[in-house]
Amino acid sequence: MEMAKIGPGVAGGNNRQTLTDDDKLGRDLFDHWCRQAGLTVSVDRMGTMFARRAGADETLPPVMMGSHLDTQPTGGKFDGVLGVLAGLEVVRSLNEMGIRTRHPIEVVNWTNEEGARFAPAILASAVFAGKMSLEDAYALTDDEGKTFGGELSRIGYKGENPVGDRPIKAMFELHIEQGPILEAEGLELGVVSHAQGLRWIEFTLTGYECHTGTTPMPVRRNALVGAARAVELVNKVALDFEPDAVATVGYLNVSPNSRNIVPGSVTFCVDMRNPSLEDLKDMETAIVTGVEQIADDLKLDCTSQEVGAYDPVVFDEDCVSAVRNAAEQLGYSHKDMVSGAGHDACHIAAVAPTAMIFCPCVGGISHNEAEEITPEWAAAGADVLLHAVVATAGVVEE
Ligand code: GLV
Ligand code: MN
Ligand code: MN
Repeated sequence: MEMAKIGPGVAGGNNRQTLTDDDKLGRDLFDHWCRQAGLTVSVDRMGTMFARRAGADETLPPVMMGSHLDTQPTGGKFDGVLGVLAGLEVVRSLNEMGIRTRHPIEVVNWTNEEGARFAPAILASAVFAGKMSLEDAYALTDDEGKTFGGELSRIGYKGENPVGDRPIKAMFELHIEQGPILEAEGLELGVVSHAQGLRWIEFTLTGYECHTGTTPMPVRRNALVGAARAVELVNKVALDFEPDAVATVGYLNVSPNSRNIVPGSVTFCVDMRNPSLEDLKDMETAIVTGVEQIADDLKLDCTSQEVGAYDPVVFDEDCVSAVRNAAEQLGYSHKDMVSGAGHDACHIAAVAPTAMIFCPCVGGISHNEAEEITPEWAAAGADVLLHAVVATAGVVEE
């Protein structure tokens, strides 16, 4: 609730988008809390913050816990934030109990998980995992043309440390479910064994700007009519691939966006997801060929570009077991789940043993300022996080 005071939204949630002044203030507060807890904070060149609690053997790789502090423009208070601050709470608890771990422990705040301001989402973890270059990430622009690299420097979080390429013992991410299943089934947490894959394809349809009052219908090349048909097509493709597929157009930029100009060009982004790689690829083909056909029918030019992608993920068996064992040992009701949303853990899984814990959320509502969880659910998730991390990091008896 203290973190949520920074970057308030318009309806009780948050607008603390990545690399804004409010993101800087959120980071500063997290940094302050980490130092109070005796952690050593370092920042890498992507702005990702690593708050380290020394292990008994500092030559061993760290066990990480983390998520993200950035939010959607109309985001909730818990998406991402829960996983970062639960990590801090784990450290505070270990401090209070005087527990020393063999491996060091790091609480991580990954930069630009949301991808609302700079696409793609889960950006810093992608660079960390070697899936995108630092230079390409720095060159990304927001809708105002500001670069990721420039904004990272501006808020003072372009750190010195190289990005990635270092051993990690394991990474655990606690996150709200962002869906309705756990609450509906009356369960206290989810053991996340898989995550579905994603593609973001950005299309630009270009026609011809002209006067809305004088241009006869047959000669128009209206880019927005093409985009409207494409939105319908995207919805239909997801329904064709039921029950697991989802696809959405949530971003649409109409140019010049004037009441009395026939739209000359529209850029829109298709978000499509599926737990099966084969189906995901088939959805992509159906959408790309379908949009090209629509453009053809309307005499529009069409370009497309992939602006985000990750394949379905299978999380590490030992890490998943550590989470499940902790839930069982502590007596929390739980079930295995597939993540519908993307998370930093999805990229880190490619370079380190990784697993996730889901906390229920009220009504399954997320990416909405109304997002809500209960203190009891948060405590159960943090409790399981603590036990999974300690089991993985090992305890030194003193
Ligand atoms: C992350 O917020 C996602 O879009 O899954
Ligand atoms: Mn998130
Ligand atoms: Mn999110």
